[in-house]
Amino acid sequence: MYSIKTIAVLGAGTMGNGIAQISAAAGYTVVMQDIYEESLVKGMAAINKSLGKMVSKGKMTQETADDTVSRISTTLSLEEAVKDADFVIEAVPEELKLKLETYKRLSAACKKDCILGSNTSTLPITILASVVENPARVAGVHFMNPVPVIKGIELISARHTSDECMDAILEYVKRIDREPVMAVDYAGFIVSRILDVYQNEAVKCVMDGNKPEDIDKAMKLCCNFPIGPCELMDLVGLDIVEHGLKTLENDFGEKYKAAPLLSQMVRAGEVGRKAGKGFYSYEK
Ligand SMILES: NC(=O)c1ccc[n+]([C@@H]2O[C@H](COP(=O)([O-])OP(=O)(O)OC[C@H]3O[C@@H](n4cnc5c(N)ncnc54)[C@H](O)[C@@H]3O)[C@@H](O)[C@H]2O)c1
Repeated sequence: MYSIKTIAVLGAGTMGNGIAQISAAAGYTVVMQDIYEESLVKGMAAINKSLGKMVSKGKMTQETADDTVSRISTTLSLEEAVKDADFVIEAVPEELKLKLETYKRLSAACKKDCILGSNTSTLPITILASVVENPARVAGVHFMNPVPVIKGIELISARHTSDECMDAILEYVKRIDREPVMAVDYAGFIVSRILDVYQNEAVKCVMDGNKPEDIDKAMKLCCNFPIGPCELMDLVGLDIVEHGLKTLENDFGEKYKAAPLLSQMVRAGEVGRKAGKGFYSYEK
């Protein structure tokens, strides 16, 4: 019943441009949508840079990189982006109100058999599906950052997701050469539920006087983690981590309360790499 050929990616930010890139590289026709022209330009620049790196490392030919880019078009209109889509992957900011408005519009604008996948890190998918006609076609498709590099994708069946819908998503995951991980639809699924507690505890260690460099070194050299928690928060965005913790606190209580320093840094705009400053400073 479901057949995925054309994909619309909503949001051209950190996650959206990576999702557009790997989908186009696998041969899908992709429309990438954002509400800001500047974000679309930046998103395409990020895709070109990432493909350029692969070409220079000999992992992809220039011809394949050019073909990949030629399969991606951009638009500022959600309705235009999704009108022919078989699969929408939503990667707009992690705000429940914005996501609900987006799903209401998708319900009206998409083909009735278009699958709706959310890249949310923490919001239960069943909430998003609740405003969609035919919620059997809504699921969680949680890519990890950086999208072109990480092999695993968390897949979440919501309360009403049909087996046919999940089978079509599994087929897509296979075609983009990724490994699916199935998770139950409670806030944070598996990855964010565990990771957010760990990251929050690292912020509390900074508050206790530990240096971010020492915390990262400890987790990398003593626990064999590939990246330390402070480096990881800078990569993901401290705002995203704080949002995640709030969602988890709502559903699971006090243990997910964001450390005061995390909220203070978010208020100061020190949200990590994308702002040029987080636990570390980055040259713009
Ligand atoms: N950053 C991460 O490491 C990470 C990892 C996994 C999942 N996620 C999830 O992916 C989603 C996107 O996160 P991100 O880090 O890419 O955010 P981002 O801030 O980098 O990008 C969001 C993009 O959405 C655009 N946007 C805002 N409102 C929009 C709208 N109404 N319609 C279309 N586009 C709109 C913004 O202009 C921006 O370009 C969130 O749900 C987040 O929780 C993020």
